[in-house]
Formats: sequence, structure tokens, C-alpha cells
Amino acid sequence: MYRIAVIPGDGTGQEQVNEGLKVLAAAQKKFNYKMETFHYDLGGERYLRTGEILPDSVLEELKDFDAIFLGAIGHPDVKPGILEKGLLLQLRFALDLYVNLRPVKLFPGVSTPLKGKNPEDIDFVVVRENTEGLYAGAGGFLRKGTPHEVAVQESINTRFGVERCLRYAFEYCRNKRRRKLTLCGKTNVLTYAFDLWERAFQELAPEFPDIERDYAHVDAICMWMVKNPEWFDVIVTDNMFGDIITDLGAMIQGGMGIAAGANIHPGRVSMFEPIGGSAPKYTGKGVINPLASICAGAMMLDFLGENRAAEAIEKSVSEVCSTRLKSLNAGQMGFSTAEVGDLVAEKF
Ligand code: IPM
Ligand code: MN
Repeated sequence: MYRIAVIPGDGTGQEQVNEGLKVLAAAQKKFNYKMETFHYDLGGERYLRTGEILPDSVLEELKDFDAIFLGAIGHPDVKPGILEKGLLLQLRFALDLYVNLRPVKLFPGVSTPLKGKNPEDIDFVVVRENTEGLYAGAGGFLRKGTPHEVAVQESINTRFGVERCLRYAFEYCRNKRRRKLTLCGKTNVLTYAFDLWERAFQELAPEFPDIERDYAHVDAICMWMVKNPEWFDVIVTDNMFGDIITDLGAMIQGGMGIAAGANIHPGRVSMFEPIGGSAPKYTGKGVINPLASICAGAMMLDFLGENRAAEAIEKSVSEVCSTRLKSLNAGQMGFSTAEVGDLVAEKF
């Protein structure tokens, strides 16, 4: 029996998690697992109503679940940064979810903006460090609001934090088809941060003689993700670069409608989410694509050890993409949000 905390969050988050949960529930009979869900009312509406974002007592409760299933965070009436930092990033930091795992996989029949690229060309995973870097919140203002204002935002890279992320990536790579790990950095300019990353990368290498290693600067990675995505198998990088290249990744795999991610601390409660935002303009219309949430559900099952169920969900998603949906974009799928959930769920 898995205990799952569900945080629908803002905007289309609720519509998305509904379908994710529908599919998780449909698969449980066939694959013989049980799930109990507990809903948490967190997000912009609660903040506007009560001023609370993530009460300490809720954070403590969340630590006792097997996993957290998240919808989306971000509310048009709340200043940018408040909910993102107070809720989403706070969950990542406070639960020490040090890996953000983001697969970039083109399913058959899905259209990619990359001309001439097929599913066999676009199939890699980004391992994004999730608790440090520019996201650590280090820095501040001096003389704020004056013509001599100074704003400093520092990137924090600890040997411990970098090494555990790299180790996860090396280990993850062992189960990938090509066993190639690419470090994405900027060693030509960020000569402290990525010097540490590169040394840690080289020093771990002898423990993983079966993994091919590669290095590329982040700007070149952006170029090659578009021109030669088939070069990549697993990419490991820091928090900020990982944030940026995974949006690019989402686009080449068919859009935010299908891009899912996992915030992981191996062996502890971890969190699974669509990587896209709360999409306020689509809220309540039943047009958002729930496949990202459904795929996040599959990643959650995989994390929980229900690998066969996870694979089956992915297979069902792939079939629905190639045989039923007109497009993965919101409002252009040819089906409503709930109907897409039904199509995936009815395979079980
Ligand atoms: C993501 C998002 C978040 C991030 C925002 C909402 C804080 O863009 O999950 O990629 O920057 O990590
Ligand atoms: Mn992002």
C-alpha cells in the first residue's frame, strides 16, 4: 500500500492530476499494487485566502509519504517568485530532493519541430542538480533602489552536492541503452563552479569504467540538442542549466503537454510533476494535455519499484499519442483533458 500526497496546486494543476490519478488507479488492479491518496490544499488560492504557503506542520506530514504527486505551481494574482520559492523550490530543498530527472523522449507519431528526427534520435535523460547552484538563494542587494544598486546572486556548488548528483547520473546511465554520460557545463567561463564539477566527474569515473564520458558547454549542448539530439543518452548538469535545457528538451519531444519530471532523493519521499506551469489561460476549460501528469505518474511508479506498471503506462501513452491524438498541444488534441485520461486508462 503506497501512501501518496497529492498537491494539485494552481491553474490547470487539478485537471492534470485528476487524469494522472485516474491512470494510476486504473493500472493498480492489473499490476497488483495499492495506493492511498491524501490531498493537500496548497498553492495560490490558499495563499490569497490565508497567507499560508507551506506550513511547517504540512512539510512534516509530507515527509511520511511514499511519494508526492504535484500538479502545477504559479498563480496570476500572486507576484512571481512567492509561490515558486515558497512552495515548489521549498519542497525540493526542504525534502532534499537533490536530483531532478527529466526524460526527453519522442514517442512515435508525435511531431517534433526538428526536421528529419525520429523517435530513435530523441531519447535521452537530463539529470539536473536540484538543491544548489543559482537556486540556493545566496546573494542580496546593496543600496537597493538607488542608482548605485548592487544585486548579487551567487551559484553555490558543494563538493558533496555535486558528487551525489554525478553519482546518481553515472548509476542511472548504467541502465540506459548507450551508457554515455555527458557533463553539461561552462568550464571556459565559470572557472570555479564547473572546475569543481569537472574534477568530481573525472574522479568518479574509475568507479564506472563501463560508462562513456563526454563533456560539452551548455551553449553547445543547446545547439546539438537541436541539430544532433541522437548524440545524447544521459546529460548531467547544474540547477540553472538543467532548468533551461529541459525546456528546450520538452519542445523537441513534442511540447510541455508530455514533459514530466521527478524530484528525487533515493530512498526517501520524492516528488513527481509535469514540468510545465499552471497555464492560467487554459484553466477550467478541459483542454490541457494531461499526458505530462500521466507520465509523471509512471515515473512515480518506477521510483516505487512498480517498474512493470510504469512501463505499461508509458506504452499506453505512446499508443494514444501515435494512434489517437491530433496534437499534443492544449486545445488541439481532438479530445478533452478527461478523454485523454480515459484513452490511456482504458488499456488496463
Ligand atoms: C521548473 C520550473 C521551476 C524552476 C520554477 C517554476 C521555479 O521552471 O520546474 O523547471 O525554475 O525550477
Ligand atoms: Mn523550468
